[in-house]
Amino acid sequence: MKALILVGGFGTRLRPLTLSVPKPLVDFANKPMILHQIEALKAVGVTEVVLAINYQPEVMLNFLKEFETKLGIKITCSQETEPLGTAGPLALARDKLVDDAGEPFFVLNSDVISEYPFKEMIEFHKSHGGEASLMVTKVDEPSKYGVVVMEESTGQVERFVEKPKLFVGNKINAGIYLLDPCVLERIQLRPTSIEKEVFPNIAAEKKLYAMVLPGFWMDVGQPRDYITGLRLYLDSLKKRSSPKLALGSHIVGNVIVDETAKIGEGCLIGPDVAIGPGCVIESGVRLSRCTVMRGVRVKKHACVSGSIIGWHSTVGQWARVENMTILGEDVHVCDEIYSNGGVVLPHKEIKSSILKPEIVM
Ligand code: GDD
Ligand code: MG
Repeated sequence: MKALILVGGFGTRLRPLTLSVPKPLVDFANKPMILHQIEALKAVGVTEVVLAINYQPEVMLNFLKEFETKLGIKITCSQETEPLGTAGPLALARDKLVDDAGEPFFVLNSDVISEYPFKEMIEFHKSHGGEASLMVTKVDEPSKYGVVVMEESTGQVERFVEKPKLFVGNKINAGIYLLDPCVLERIQLRPTSIEKEVFPNIAAEKKLYAMVLPGFWMDVGQPRDYITGLRLYLDSLKKRSSPKLALGSHIVGNVIVDETAKIGEGCLIGPDVAIGPGCVIESGVRLSRCTVMRGVRVKKHACVSGSIIGWHSTVGQWARVENMTILGEDVHVCDEIYSNGGVVLPHKEIKSSILKPEIVM
């Protein structure tokens, strides 16, 4: 089986992290987002993943080459010369997606995190006989997603409305599709939206089916959702009694710590924390609801909560970093500084406190 991951878009909502790498390569739970997806695809027998890209393909490919061999899966690129939206890239990659057996293929948005129930999805797709299957999940704020109105018992989709202004329902498109090759016949090679143009048409012909995704789901393409997504991801590790979760008297709730990270005396870590490779957490540090990416140093007695600390940054002694502070790559927060929701661009030094949420250029 094959899969296509939609990797375009500029990831503006996840700046300043996406100023350093394309969104799919931003680490989530100590691993680039896209690797979570590729590993899960591999696990259900996908042999080739096509990345639909519209900028910086070299960065992505160089990075993923290493994993091609490690994971034993073929990773190729289909590059757009202009952004083709969420459907156009499928037309562009047509030859790569269709095989002689006429098997269905997966299509994923690159910024969604879940338990990827692909196996269940394959079974569902076989059972209904339609052209396309998609996963849906319930959310409190459906207006920022694609809303799906479906017949509960069969899953047949009645309506698909992208980013509705008026309430139509609370089941939303989770950005995980399984499509028959014939769907490609509906898509022209031009900028076009699968959500606005393709799915509403297939639904009108009653050939679109939706399945409620078991387990958690989150679009982690914005900082607040990224932090919530980490909590849900760690909860799901807990439910599966995963050995990845850290243990010890200094750990509170669900925490993952890369084996190459060092944690000093008297720290209190958790809940909902990810500490990446090569990090140094000095003594007496307090971390909660945060991600600390590869190569970060958090100096003595600093306190970080509800924040993302980008690669190779430093948080000074007794500093306090909180309320959705996002530090880009290689940012240095001096000793005793307070950051209340600062969004700091890469390679900056923060010498005075950031008292209210603002972007520091
Ligand atoms: N190759 C390519 N080219 N990819 C693109 C392009 C493009 O021009 N534009 C967007 N993408 C990719 C993004 O990288 C992302 O992986 C995916 O398409 C969806 O785009 P987003 O910008 O993240 O859309 P969204 O989050 O507002 O809405 C989408 O996702 C929701 C679930 O998170 C829609 O599919 C909604 O219906 C859905 O509910
Ligand atoms: Mg998104």
